Amino acid sequence: MVKLTDNEFLEFVEYMQKNYGIDLSKKRVLIEGRLSNLIERKGMTSFGEYLNNIKRNNQEEITMLINKLTTNYTYFYREENHFDFLKEVIFPYESKNNKAKTLNIWSAGCSSGEEPYTLAMICDDYFKFSGNYNSWKIQITATDISDNVLTKARDGVYSLDSIKNLPETFKKRYFIKTKDDKYEIHPDIKRYVTFKVFNLMDTIVAKNKYDVIFCRNVMIYFNGETKLNIVNKLYEATKPEGYLMIGHAETIQRSKSKYKYVKPAIYKKE
Ligand SMILES: C[S@@+](CC[C@H](N)C(=O)[O-])C[C@H]1O[C@@H](n2cnc3c(N)ncnc32)[C@H](O)[C@@H]1O
Repeated sequence: MVKLTDNEFLEFVEYMQKNYGIDLSKKRVLIEGRLSNLIERKGMTSFGEYLNNIKRNNQEEITMLINKLTTNYTYFYREENHFDFLKEVIFPYESKNNKAKTLNIWSAGCSSGEEPYTLAMICDDYFKFSGNYNSWKIQITATDISDNVLTKARDGVYSLDSIKNLPETFKKRYFIKTKDDKYEIHPDIKRYVTFKVFNLMDTIVAKNKYDVIFCRNVMIYFNGETKLNIVNKLYEATKPEGYLMIGHAETIQRSKSKYKYVKPAIYKKE
């Protein structure tokens, strides 16, 4: 087993913090446990050698590393309070006040697509059945740092277990059953969503600002300062009167953020 020395650990922590916002300062055992075999398989003999390879900016290596150190765990209709809030507060408000009839939604840290596709279904269901559907232009941008998960997201094929929380009507309307008993997202839903690789540590260039940003269960990896920087960037990318949704197990420093707290895990730009 390749051992992680004290110096290598410090260098690793600093590099991952600076470039990916991932706080590994208390994760020494996790780093050694999850990467040691990988390093050996690559024919390398030390963490130092591995980190030098990462620093050469090989995207495939970086994706593999992030996948090893973070979790992509997600499922359809996760934390449904947010979807209720969309249907009960945001959509009725937009229906009344949004003269341009455009909705721009961002799922930041979308993993394998369950979150943005859930959003697409919620939008489709709401606007199709509230009339005037054809005059609305709804765009969902879904981003993740990991290219691997985005490949799965674009394929849009899921197990029965992952869709089990969805209402039965959604399961019937928005999926096509495949020959091997999987469930593929209907093309009508796929067309709402555009997937892109994006590292939240990078500068956000939002030509069109967002009505709603979902950044849920992503910032768990970030320390306080990184989290605040990202939240500030998300704020700039939010339209006035727009919202930020974070995971229910996450917090943002209310006194330091410009967003106004609305209710647990829901923030608003006023
Ligand atoms: C646990 S999943 C959350 C998925 C979904 N938002 C949800 O709540 O179910 C976290 C995702 O954040 C992504 N992630 C981690 N660090 C990131 C970063 N710096 N920039 C963009 N995405 C990141 C991971 O690749 C992973 O897919």
